[in-house]
Amino acid sequence: MPKATLLRISDGVDVAGKYVLLRASLNVPVVDGCVSNQFRIVRAMPTINHLTQAGARVIIVAHIGREPSETLAPVAEAMQSFVPLTFVPAVTGEAVRAARNEMQNGEVIMLENVRQHPKEKDDDGSFAAELASIADIYVNDAFAASHRAHASLAGVPRHLPSYFGLNFMHEYDELLKAAAPHAPSLFILGGAKFDTKMPLVEKYLDTYSNIFIGGALANDIFKARGLEVGNSLVSEIDLSGSPIINHEQIMTPIDVVVDGPQGRRTCAPDAVSPDERILDAGPETIALLSPLVGAAKTILWNGPLGNYEAGYGEQTEALAHLVAQSEGYAVIGGGDTIAAVENLRVQESIGFMSTAGGAMLTFLEAGTLPAIDAVQNQLQP
Ligand code: 3PG
Repeated sequence: MPKATLLRISDGVDVAGKYVLLRASLNVPVVDGCVSNQFRIVRAMPTINHLTQAGARVIIVAHIGREPSETLAPVAEAMQSFVPLTFVPAVTGEAVRAARNEMQNGEVIMLENVRQHPKEKDDDGSFAAELASIADIYVNDAFAASHRAHASLAGVPRHLPSYFGLNFMHEYDELLKAAAPHAPSLFILGGAKFDTKMPLVEKYLDTYSNIFIGGALANDIFKARGLEVGNSLVSEIDLSGSPIINHEQIMTPIDVVVDGPQGRRTCAPDAVSPDERILDAGPETIALLSPLVGAAKTILWNGPLGNYEAGYGEQTEALAHLVAQSEGYAVIGGGDTIAAVENLRVQESIGFMSTAGGAMLTFLEAGTLPAIDAVQNQLQP
């Protein structure tokens, strides 16, 4: 993947006294009104500190959750322990302008969930212009959201001098390393939605020595091989006839944990009953992976091996242990994968933990993202 020269805010751009619209990635889990994981907040801080120390007036724009009604108020509250900021419970309008006009150099405000605005997701030109109108400079530090061609990501750079933030560039540089692995290399792909992940699997057959496909993705392969998958989660995609289902570089679980009327048990993938559901890989699968993880010079891992959120995280965590012990360079991403590593407190042993999930996969597949192109092709309305 060719490395483009991206426009970095850290490359001496003068921001003193300027209003900087900072698109951050702050879509964090909130439980009972409190942020339950600060990973993305911590990673947003270098750019915020860089801007405030240089005397910018920083206006943070971000999204949270899937429902437009969700609020960034708990995130603003959690961020107070990192940087003093004022939360403005609006995306546009008089309240935003008033707060903006009161800002001094080095101060920070955060606007409400940008997806509360009905035109954000459409990359509406007038909404992008309105967002841009309150700032002098735009900084995209939201790598994890940059696969979305939304107004705050793809639209604003058509109106303002635009740059990438420090977290963005960290993600970019590290994922380029994963895109050019050292052999022997291992790509581990889990989670669901094979339809969106298939192009990356096909592409990385030429890039990675071995590809392990786990999670619900493996169910699609089992099904295409003619095995019974019972009530397991499968994608829309039909893989029958695809060369990947029996490809020599591709591995799948050799044992699975299932649940059904007879209770929970571990069995071979060809011994699943019609009334059972595959929910995790089994321990023999981890034993199979162990020497490959141990030998790999580069490991790229995105997505859990089981239904992590429903409590089937045992083999994902077992694999996280192995990856942390490996001497190879590991790049991991995706919310559940990161959660497994954090649960085990082995973050320090991982080469790079991406804040991104879907954006990471899209970037590795396409070599760019809509919001990267927007900044690189800026000021061309
Ligand atoms: C993120 O914040 O992780 C990404 O933007 C994914 O969230 P989305 O699917 O709601 O865009």
